[in-house]
Amino acid sequence: MQTSSNVQAYRAGLLTFHADPAFSERAHSWYEDGLLIVADGKIQAAGDWDKLRDTLPPDTPVTDYRGKIITAGFIDAHIHYPQTDMIASPAPGLLPWLEQYTFPTERAFADPAHAAGVAEFFLDELMRVGTTTALVYCTVHPQSVDAFFTASEARGLRMIAGKVMMDRHCPDFLCDTAERGALESEELIGRWHNRGRSQYAITPRFAPTSTEAQMELAGALARKYPDTYLQTHVSENEDECRWVQQLYPNARSYLDVYDHYGMLRPRAVFGHCIWLDGEDRARMAETKSAAAVCPTSNLFLGSGLFDFEEADKAGMLMALATDVGAGTSFSMLQTMNEAYKVARLKGSYLPALRMFYLSTLGAARSLHLDGTIGSLAAGNEADFIVLDPQATPLLARRTARTESLEEMLFALALLGDDRVIAATYSAGKRVHQRES
Ligand code: GUN
Ligand code: ZN
Repeated sequence: MQTSSNVQAYRAGLLTFHADPAFSERAHSWYEDGLLIVADGKIQAAGDWDKLRDTLPPDTPVTDYRGKIITAGFIDAHIHYPQTDMIASPAPGLLPWLEQYTFPTERAFADPAHAAGVAEFFLDELMRVGTTTALVYCTVHPQSVDAFFTASEARGLRMIAGKVMMDRHCPDFLCDTAERGALESEELIGRWHNRGRSQYAITPRFAPTSTEAQMELAGALARKYPDTYLQTHVSENEDECRWVQQLYPNARSYLDVYDHYGMLRPRAVFGHCIWLDGEDRARMAETKSAAAVCPTSNLFLGSGLFDFEEADKAGMLMALATDVGAGTSFSMLQTMNEAYKVARLKGSYLPALRMFYLSTLGAARSLHLDGTIGSLAAGNEADFIVLDPQATPLLARRTARTESLEEMLFALALLGDDRVIAATYSAGKRVHQRES
């Protein structure tokens, strides 16, 4: 029975997507004076205040967020929680950055107490920037995965994560073996996959740090557990691409290495995808694999510029992502800011509505989680955020003068960051409230 005790209601501007704005003229709904109704952690309705107010059970409390905008929580499709403490570490490109900072930092996650501490800080930070779901790399240590899921489960968050597999071209202290990597990954799948809101991602770091034996076993796991995720890096940096060519001389392309081992499939998410060719993009689309597009990371390391236009021509699934710690911000708003400029440098154009789509429903589709998260559709889990167009003096001044929803969202993306996130809700529970 519906009583006011299990129902919450929120009055605000509501933005939600039904389709990709690049391919549909009726991709979104915007309710300027809207009402979001949540019951038992799920979205019950989202629509006009005037139409829905009378459907509320008597005495339902209505939280008044008028002047603010509610959207689905952001989804970050590629992020490394162990790299939190080394964000903004200088190095001339990907491979030296991995050697100098990444590997030594990841070493400390052999200690479960250290891993637990970083996981707590990391999740606090995600909530502060309005990211309610992320596809997360842990380290080679299984205890880093246990620490992460223990922390995310205690908060009731929907998170996807996995143990890095790497058995060559890395320091001894981070090296597993093909067999041990597969065994530990399978144990973690048994322990965490589909337990509550936790889901597992098979995580070979990237082709250069796995032997062919490890790639074989990772591919076999991906086939044995088709509803798990698979995450890795591909075609990020030109030096890395040349290295892969030397290591796998028989592969047609870098992506083809993964294809050879059966890793292209729904729920496979490939970080970066900068130096793909047309055939690669067609394979991504055909296999329903997704690209995680990481503009702040790509600019920071000088890796290259993602080609949104070619990805769209091929019909690839894609989602925006931070790639912290090579990414320079946890904020999906700051990620949109840089994505916009990357698109401009490639001669294309990303409207703000598209960028919000690629951080919500588009990301959920890339993860095959639409119908669960990513929009305010009835029945979805109630993961949503409250955006404040007046978060800073400059934003207040700019957004007072915007003349369309597109202009408003654009200002939030270009000028916004954690300060814009007034509140974050996960499964209907408030998990962050900004200090005002
Ligand atoms: N390629 C392999 N490992 C990594 C990593 O940790 N970060 C980035 N950006 N690229 C990688
Ligand atoms: Zn990465």
